[in-house]
Amino acid sequence: MGRLQDKVIIITGALGGQGQIAVARFLDEGAYVVASDRAAAADGEVAARLAQAPERLVYRGGDICSEDLAGELVAVAVERFGRLDVLYTNHGLMLGKPFLDTSLDEFDALIATNLRAPFALSLHAARAMAANGGGVIIHNSSVGGIVGFPTMAAYGASKGGLAQLARSMATDLAPHNIRVNAICPGVVDTPMPRRYVGEVSEAERAAAFGAMADMHLLKRLARPEEIVNVVVFLASDEASFMTGAVIPVDGGLTAI
Ligand SMILES: NC(=O)c1ccc[n+]([C@@H]2O[C@H](COP(=O)([O-])OP(=O)(O)OC[C@H]3O[C@@H](n4cnc5c(N)ncnc54)[C@H](O)[C@@H]3O)[C@@H](O)[C@H]2O)c1
Repeated sequence: MGRLQDKVIIITGALGGQGQIAVARFLDEGAYVVASDRAAAADGEVAARLAQAPERLVYRGGDICSEDLAGELVAVAVERFGRLDVLYTNHGLMLGKPFLDTSLDEFDALIATNLRAPFALSLHAARAMAANGGGVIIHNSSVGGIVGFPTMAAYGASKGGLAQLARSMATDLAPHNIRVNAICPGVVDTPMPRRYVGEVSEAERAAAFGAMADMHLLKRLARPEEIVNVVVFLASDEASFMTGAVIPVDGGLTAI
């Protein structure tokens, strides 16, 4: 028996660095998974798992900002697997740009992706969960939603909003037996920080990653598995008394 045995889980951002690990781990813990990301077809570990266990995993591609896709993911969970137990809004868009150079279009894109889309998806998911006795929603926020960083005003605002959305949703959804929490990772070793550093020399890349590592008390980046461990815990009944929490998973970054 896995820790998520036969739970039905939606995960967004499923083809990203953390998402690939999360899909594999949820399946290993016994879950049925509806995975989604922007690409039309799955790749990497998600594609391999689709080939191995098509009866437990479904992939749907598209822009998560589309409300049609949000509704479709919940409908697929219910139609294919009978219900929805867990929503993990893991997708995210990052922009590293000085505040003075950030356009309103860029700000709107971050809010649409990191805040409006999780809100819309949660609406569809929570309605299905409420009709079926309850469930769990987990939002992937960021330390950027807790403290300020240079060049992260738009990203931080979207992720701070997402953390606050978790607290607020928790208060409305507790009577429906739906727990809602947010995790706030420190820097995780995925394509996201690599894109942030950009095309630079090897020495500049090493210096940038060294500086990012130094922000954490543990003096390194997180491995995606270390974030997913917390998500599995929150999704499981082991976290039955946790709701409305905004949880740093950050190697001590926000402790200093
Ligand atoms: N990597 C980090 O350092 C870090 C730190 C804190 C929080 N986070 C958060 O963790 C989550 C996972 O990120 P990751 O580290 O795996 O990065 P990643 O860039 O590898 O994955 C993000 C995924 O989100 C998907 N996505 C973005 N916009 C989308 C859209 N409009 N429609 C559909 N899919 C979309 C991307 O295609 C990508 O696969 C994100 O929410 C991110 O903000 C990451």
